[in-house]
Amino acid sequence: MLVLLSRARSQGMPMHVDRRADLRHALDPVAFAAERLGIVVDDWQARFLRSQAARRIVLTSRQSGKSTTAAIAAVHRAIFFAESLVLVVSPSLRQSSLLFEKIAAHVSRLGLHTDLSEENRSSLTFANGSRVVSLPGGSEETIRGYSGVALVLEDEAAWVPDATFHAVTPMLAVSRGSLVLLSTPCGARGHLFDVWSRGGREWERYKITADDVPRIPRDFLEQERKLKGDRIWLQEYFCEFGDAVDAFFSADAVHGAISPDVEPLFFGSPS
Ligand SMILES: Nc1ncnc2c1ncn2[C@@H]1O[C@H](COP(=O)(O)OP(=O)(O)OP(=O)(O)O)[C@@H](O)[C@H]1O
Ligand SMILES: [Mg+2]
Repeated sequence: MLVLLSRARSQGMPMHVDRRADLRHALDPVAFAAERLGIVVDDWQARFLRSQAARRIVLTSRQSGKSTTAAIAAVHRAIFFAESLVLVVSPSLRQSSLLFEKIAAHVSRLGLHTDLSEENRSSLTFANGSRVVSLPGGSEETIRGYSGVALVLEDEAAWVPDATFHAVTPMLAVSRGSLVLLSTPCGARGHLFDVWSRGGREWERYKITADDVPRIPRDFLEQERKLKGDRIWLQEYFCEFGDAVDAFFSADAVHGAISPDVEPLFFGSPS
């Protein structure tokens, strides 16, 4: 259910909210970000935030604004849709804490009353019954404990363990929640690569290279190319999956070693 902040004063929402602006912000996360959070989003961020697709995968350059976008989407969902449970998953405890700080900063800017879960300082409960929980990767046991999830945002999905991803997807079947993966690629492996390359048409795909990010200067990119070499540079800034940086054999070498003319040594599983 859509809830306007101006309607929810009795639930600890701020008193000074203009009704028409409020409706505009509920319907348009881009206007919400600009007028309430002071963030004028980039073109790709606007397309992403306005999308209604239930499955979205965003492959981006470093520093493109992934975490910023995830934080805006989480806050918008929580405050305008009552009783929404939003899970934000990051690869490590440190990254999930940083993202949680971003979310908490947005909420504090809005002047909303929330309860901070004291036990781990990673969960915000809103007066309208919504919750935003920020979890580190490797928390599949914890994730399995949640139900009725409205939105899952996986930040830096290439580094989130596959087991965590596989714990998330079944619970969305019942809640009909949305799932978003945002990441810079890291090698042609794992669930990010699988979804991008063969996830099917139900996934809305975004590819945002450094050229699409107005804050990344061209001369900085050239310096990075010299420093890192083409393989890492293309992965970090131009969304190339390439090979895992620590891979012993390249994907090309592995594929090149497979010949359809050579029969496998074993058929089926050994008895
Ligand atoms: N639309 C925007 N307008 C102005 N600044 C922005 C915008 N989006 C992101 N930024 C800024 O760009 C920087 C990088 O943003 P953010 O941390 O969200 O990117 P990221 O893709 O998550 O980066 P990383 O690859 O390091 O995780 C931050 O300083 C952030 O405040
Ligand atoms: Mg980030």
